[in-house]
Amino acid sequence: MTGPKSYQKVNDEVLASLSEIAGAKNVLCGDERANYARDETTELEPALPEVVVRPEDTASVARIMKLASDKHIPVTPRGGGTGISGGAVPIYGGIVLSLERMNRIVEIDRDNFVATVEAGVILTDLYQAVEEAGLYYPLYPGETSSSIGGNVATNAGGMRAVKYGVTRHFVLGLEAVLPNGDIITTGGKFVKCSTGYELTQLITGSEGTLAVITKVLLRLIPPPGKREVLFIPFNSLEDAIGAVPDILKGDNLPVGLEFMEQDIIKMVEEYTGQEVPLHEHQAFLMIIVEAASDDEIQRIAGRLGEVCLDHGAVDVFLPGSERAKRRLLELREKFYSTVCHFGTPAIVDAVVPRSRIAEFIAKVKEIAQRYQVPLVSYGHAGDGNVHLHPMSDGTKKSVAKIEKMLVEIFQVGVACGGTISGEHGLGLVKKEYLPIAADKSKLALMRRIKLAFDPNNIMNPGKVIDMD
Ligand code: LAC
Ligand code: ZN
Repeated sequence: MTGPKSYQKVNDEVLASLSEIAGAKNVLCGDERANYARDETTELEPALPEVVVRPEDTASVARIMKLASDKHIPVTPRGGGTGISGGAVPIYGGIVLSLERMNRIVEIDRDNFVATVEAGVILTDLYQAVEEAGLYYPLYPGETSSSIGGNVATNAGGMRAVKYGVTRHFVLGLEAVLPNGDIITTGGKFVKCSTGYELTQLITGSEGTLAVITKVLLRLIPPPGKREVLFIPFNSLEDAIGAVPDILKGDNLPVGLEFMEQDIIKMVEEYTGQEVPLHEHQAFLMIIVEAASDDEIQRIAGRLGEVCLDHGAVDVFLPGSERAKRRLLELREKFYSTVCHFGTPAIVDAVVPRSRIAEFIAKVKEIAQRYQVPLVSYGHAGDGNVHLHPMSDGTKKSVAKIEKMLVEIFQVGVACGGTISGEHGLGLVKKEYLPIAADKSKLALMRRIKLAFDPNNIMNPGKVIDMD
């Protein structure tokens, strides 16, 4: 395999070819490149691409990949640029291939409950188009300016995974461009498929390292009807997490089930200037439920409230109005920006079996105390996906300390039956931890898969897995 040292530079001839393919105004070589040098990972240095190209259709993407392949230039595909593991950062320069102009909703097929969309469609537009068609795409990673291509590339999760699962559970098929410029389509508008290797699901979650996703077939469902949010304070995180298994045992699975502690509540209040109800308590669960009618919602909310009170909940808060519900959810969605406002956090999105969250967090807190690093934690209690933010003070010493600490945290997570990343992907910042979760045979197999798609290692190189 040829590696980064043999990559060729983007020269005038390549620029001319790119202009011919995408139009000169969609080939950016100046200061605008700075907007494509980073994603939303706070701790990463930006890396400037040599050129940014913004094709308008799949045929153009295919021509760009063929050119990059012939010239041996690395290509970093980019969607909304909202990732938080460095997946879209062009660490070897080369070409950033932005899908932003490929933002057409191709079709919403009501008979088959399938949306066909280009990869650059952002979630806000997808939600709106699907709603206008009287249908529902339930995945909600929380960042509505992210693109569906990016969601598929990282297998994004979010706050509704308890009931609906993650992005891959809604991807029925793809159109993708291979590194050599070949266009493939996978899957289709059908539920069943036992026809050869499952390429749709292999490319989903591959973070742009195998192919450029250009179109996505998404499964849709009927809209949920009514939604309620319960906000439930507890005296301790142990009590709160202790209620989770019983909450999930009932006949109506909540859509989402989040946990948080007082520290993040105080931070979000300071950051937003808004008060959180019952903020004087130590720990909280936020439960999101959906049902067809108000009566049913009330019945489910009543039962969940009882379960939590049996587990030591101090109170059960129901926001009342739609506006108040939205406000509570929005405060939760602001946690990551809140933490970033107060420092330069590392972000962990480890996942463990949900019955072991309390044990995992207790062990993580013990590690943080030993390293004397402040740590903020919250996350998706209902699906085992825990967010931990060790807070760096910006010094080299503290960054090095956190790197060591993360190794211990991931080892503990894996020992609890979990893994490194539940929803953000490995990208650049987590790839070094992959060997904690994958043994030699599995790593070797992953490398062979990468090489089968991308023998010259030009497709988002340096991400997910190190090739040597
Ligand atoms: C969240 C992001 C950080 O759950 O995944 O807020
Ligand atoms: Zn999350």
